[in-house]
Amino acid sequence: MAVGSVLVTGGTGYIGSFTAVALIEGGYKVVIVDNLFNSSDEVLNRIQLLTGTRPAFYGLDITDEAALDKVFAENPDIDNVIHFAALKAVGESGEIPLQYYHVNVYGSLCLLKSMQKHNVTNIVFSSSATVYGDATRFPDMIPIPEHCPIGPTNVYGRTKSTVEGMITDYVTAERNRATKAGESPNRFNGALLRYFNPAGAHPSGIMGEDPQGVPYNLLPLLAQVAVGKREKLLVFGDDYASKDGTAIRDYIHILDLAKGHLMALNYLREKSPGVRAWNLGTGLGSTVFDMVKAFGAACGKDLKYEVAPRRDGDVLNLTANPARANEELGWKAEHTLEDACADLWRWTENNPQGYRQQPPAELLDA
Ligand code: NAD
Ligand code: WQD
Repeated sequence: MAVGSVLVTGGTGYIGSFTAVALIEGGYKVVIVDNLFNSSDEVLNRIQLLTGTRPAFYGLDITDEAALDKVFAENPDIDNVIHFAALKAVGESGEIPLQYYHVNVYGSLCLLKSMQKHNVTNIVFSSSATVYGDATRFPDMIPIPEHCPIGPTNVYGRTKSTVEGMITDYVTAERNRATKAGESPNRFNGALLRYFNPAGAHPSGIMGEDPQGVPYNLLPLLAQVAVGKREKLLVFGDDYASKDGTAIRDYIHILDLAKGHLMALNYLREKSPGVRAWNLGTGLGSTVFDMVKAFGAACGKDLKYEVAPRRDGDVLNLTANPARANEELGWKAEHTLEDACADLWRWTENNPQGYRQQPPAELLDA
């Protein structure tokens, strides 16, 4: 019998698919909703291959509250939500802000309203380190702890901080209402998970990130250079105050990130903390040049790059202080940067068309 049942929005996406695997392995029943805007339903086959279980799937848009209502009505055992579905390209968010507010904020509102109607009271939310904005304005807060004041510098980040506020207000109000009614307030909980830079793929080589269109993030771009889809990497700025002049980020293996969701959900259910934010990062900073070197070593190639001007909105250093997640959730990133690069390379080499093509049979049989 399942320990609980989880609705995973955006569950066929990159982080959602790995989290679905972690949840199933952790004993949960998983129901996925996703409109497949940036993912493929082939992911469901891969989840089944890895876990032996195929999650239920609903192809729907989270801004369709009536469709969400139907999912909760058809699955009355759902008692938790992990909410990934969102648009996530920082640059694009400044070009089409209303679309970002519609999906990320209005979509989250529809989800919370539907949860309220169906008495579903635990939510784990995909937030982002981007809510901290330029944390270097607080030099004594690097690596960044959760009490660092937030101050997003782009539309995407503002949608995330808005939803953090919405969940906090909603859970607080429900707890107050329950207390006044003489009920236990403890059922209402929210985890705000602030991810740093997700990296890597499944060590099996059958699950990974398959961005539609032009990738935006460093590692998928480096992978394209490695397979010859892109001539070189543009390194955005070598005049930062770091050891080699390039910007510092905290790259966290996708398996560790996925496990963080399982542990956060378990914590909500066991400890009823109300709303709590946790950084999910390694605490280790790597520069862009560190990454070029690490991924080059993983794929055995000399990766071509050229230094270009800084990218608008980029900051010098986003490195997590993960002590709160380490201590409270008992969670710690276990995989190394080398693991992430090796796993990403295995995925890239074996899946040149992402999920649009089957990987070599020996991987599927393994
Ligand atoms: P992803 O694009 O791979 O996954 C998001 C999923 O949501 C996709 O499968 C997409 O089809 C789905 N989706 C988008 N709009 C939808 C809608 N209106 N209705 C239903 N489904 C919809 O992205 P990801 O990297 O897995 O990110 C997951 C979450 O984590 C997002 O909320 C993102 O903002 C957040 N996040 C990502 C990163 C990162 O670098 N990847 C870092 C921090 C936070
Ligand atoms: C990493 C480093 C770039 C591309 C973004 C979002 C953040 C989170 C993760 C969602 C930076 C440099 C990159 C390139 C480069 N996502 N770079 N050349 O910007 O740290 O974080 O993704 O929540 O919110 O902002 O990630 O992978 O784009 O960049 O030199 O072609 O690589 O300048 O220093 P970023 P990234």
